[in-house]
Amino acid sequence: MANIILVGAQLGDEGKGKVIDVLTERADVVVRTQGGSNAGHTVFVGPQKYVLHLIPSGILRGKTQCVIGNGVVVDPVALVREIQDLERLGVRVNGNLRISEKAHMVLPYHRELDACAEKLKGKQSIGTTRRGIGPAYADKISRTGLRMLDLLRRDWPLRLREQVRASNRLLRALGGKPVSLAPIEAEYRRAARRLRPLIVDTVQLLHDALDEGKQMLFEGAQGSYLDIDHGTYPYVTSSNTTAGGACTGSGVPPNRIDKVIGVMKAYTTRVGGGPLPTEDATIADLLHGMGREFGATTGRARRCGWFDAVVTRQAARINGIDEIAVTNLDGLDTLSEIKVCTHYALAGRRLDRVPADLDQLAACKPVYRVFPGWSKDTSTARRWNDLPRNARAYLKALAQLSGAHLAMVSVGPARDQTILP
Ligand code: IMP
Ligand code: MG
Repeated sequence: MANIILVGAQLGDEGKGKVIDVLTERADVVVRTQGGSNAGHTVFVGPQKYVLHLIPSGILRGKTQCVIGNGVVVDPVALVREIQDLERLGVRVNGNLRISEKAHMVLPYHRELDACAEKLKGKQSIGTTRRGIGPAYADKISRTGLRMLDLLRRDWPLRLREQVRASNRLLRALGGKPVSLAPIEAEYRRAARRLRPLIVDTVQLLHDALDEGKQMLFEGAQGSYLDIDHGTYPYVTSSNTTAGGACTGSGVPPNRIDKVIGVMKAYTTRVGGGPLPTEDATIADLLHGMGREFGATTGRARRCGWFDAVVTRQAARINGIDEIAVTNLDGLDTLSEIKVCTHYALAGRRLDRVPADLDQLAACKPVYRVFPGWSKDTSTARRWNDLPRNARAYLKALAQLSGAHLAMVSVGPARDQTILP
């Protein structure tokens, strides 16, 4: 193993948490580099289920150094809550977690602004997780944000007051609910006391680790098509979820990265608004009926569709995906026929990429190749040859259509439900 970036190759919820948990066995350092508590990474260790939002999944290994990089937006109060929840389950956090002093903070007015913006958009709302992610990144780009280091400064109350004032002006103008300073100050002061020893110069920490030859895993959150630049704008999240974001979000340069792994589901899901060309009621009913595909952060039912190779092929290019991990194969076990979108048809012409213009994308008709199902439980398979022949053919086709090498298949949430072809 080397230094690896792991990204979602679709629209989030590809099963990254599980794949990261398997890979961290050999990683010394696991780094989150973008997003915030909008992410929800589900990991099972034995019967115990963990849902991580801000803390890298490596924390469950006990000895892995976990880093929340400068590109992440951190709600310190939510982070303390997450730490406490883990500690209650017996996970040691303190020694193993560090947070970038440069990471921007999410504050209660960001959540309020998020809700407000969604309401104003009405039918065109993005369906955000309402965690304040967009407004926090907006403050960062507008150069008015507060960073984790501000939480430790003596003049923190002053800086906070200024931002609360400015945000309240905006909230009032938008018809939102202004926030009050005093409780925020008290709550964040408490969080600061708890987090103080964990807030450091993580760029230095990561470069020291590189010098020592430590192996790093960059844990992507969300998916490539939620990327602020490359996703289905404006139905995206507010960070770079593609591989480049791992470098800017950590301070580790591109030439120290050895491999990019793309995680994709054996089908496609999307939570929130925006286009999903292969959306299909049959597969949605099937998966929801199995109790699958409900959001880890918001509990919302995810929209479901067939595997879209146009999306994964483009993701492979943008991210430089070397290897793919296909998850949730077992979700398709009972289907007699499985469709895969190989390309789109637009006004009678073949289209091999996702158009940036959403009206054009809406006019695209997915063109499907139909694969025979395998009608057999794959969740008990542990080796490549345990998989039914049709399942193997399906997986090979997904890799070939996506233009990357198949390196892992997941057939269930447990660590051992993992096949290395
Ligand atoms: P935000 O990141 O909360 O602003 O939400 C923007 C869009 O990204 C919405 O469609 C969300 O449902 C989606 N989104 C954000 N985080 C995740 C995630 O971790 N998994 C899947 N979708 C996400
Ligand atoms: Mg998720």
